[in-house]
Amino acid sequence: MPVEEKKNLHRVDDYPYEEITSPLLAWYRENKRDLPWRKDGDPYRVWVSEIMLQQTRVEGAKEYYKRFLEKFPTVYDLAAADEESLLKVWEGLGYYSRVRNMQKAARQVRDEHAGVFPDAPEKLRALAGIGDYTAGAIASIAYGRRAPAVDGNVFRVLSRLTENPTDISLPAYKKYLEEKLRAVYPEEGKACSDFTQALMELGALVCKPTSPDCETCPLRALCRAKERGRQEDYPVLPKKKDKREEKLFVFVLVTKDGVALRRREKGVLKGMYEFPTAPQDRPKEEILRGWGVDDYRIVKVEKAVHIFTHIRWEMDCVLVRAESTPFEQFTIPQIREKISLPTAFVKAKEMLEKEYGV
Ligand code: ADE
Repeated sequence: MPVEEKKNLHRVDDYPYEEITSPLLAWYRENKRDLPWRKDGDPYRVWVSEIMLQQTRVEGAKEYYKRFLEKFPTVYDLAAADEESLLKVWEGLGYYSRVRNMQKAARQVRDEHAGVFPDAPEKLRALAGIGDYTAGAIASIAYGRRAPAVDGNVFRVLSRLTENPTDISLPAYKKYLEEKLRAVYPEEGKACSDFTQALMELGALVCKPTSPDCETCPLRALCRAKERGRQEDYPVLPKKKDKREEKLFVFVLVTKDGVALRRREKGVLKGMYEFPTAPQDRPKEEILRGWGVDDYRIVKVEKAVHIFTHIRWEMDCVLVRAESTPFEQFTIPQIREKISLPTAFVKAKEMLEKEYGV
């Protein structure tokens, strides 16, 4: 039975937080994964990896990380990038505002910090897109500062160790855990870098959301949830809100000159390229006619679903061969190499590739 959600901060001050540091560090040094961003403590690289890891799992992030650093090896390269190449390296990761903010932050670092990331969490937080978590991660992992970085993994580990029933969406809970952790960070330097990553690594490898491997956990003797067999009741998560459903047509309009794409003007994915979409409130023929597309043939229609944070898209992807379209047109190689098309349009892009790609 799930633990009852607590809307207020529940303090667990009688827990011996200071006892976790040493066994956790010893475990990390033996068990840490060999990950590309762990090779050196360059703050730019740490930052890039941490932003990616907010959106995708470690395995998925590796290839993106490699490509990103090939394309933008330094903060100066990122600051000077053109928008399309920026969005293109992020293609498929989602939350494109994150990479736009990364460029803003890169420009701040270039212009206000002589190209060197600051090491103080307060200064890092003043950079675009950097909140408490990322500031703590850069300060501790790259600079060895005693700065906690509480992410979902860390919430899980600590909520279980202390059997804390506070809902993790309560901002005061994060502040509370940061304060508790700050008091038990090791001495400044490499150990701090390791401690931050050890908490995350334990959450990723051992203290997993379901079926945690408690028998191999270096902190099992210190885990109150384990003692009572209630590991999976923690952490307490906020109630899931229902997603808004939207039904839309996605038109893959192909002419002899290319494929129609346009920029989304508002709402979800604003500013990104899309195959022209329209709500399914009218027949597709009427929509096409409204765009002035008269001479056409519908080649096929396939269904697709894409789930965003707050919205669920149910799409009919319509492949259309037309004489002309009112939209900007691109060739298939241009779409492959230069244009960043959000993952929501993967199915539509596959239809295009299957029918017309070579
Ligand atoms: N998740 C987010 N950041 C991480 C890191 N540095 N190591 C392991 N997992 C992570």
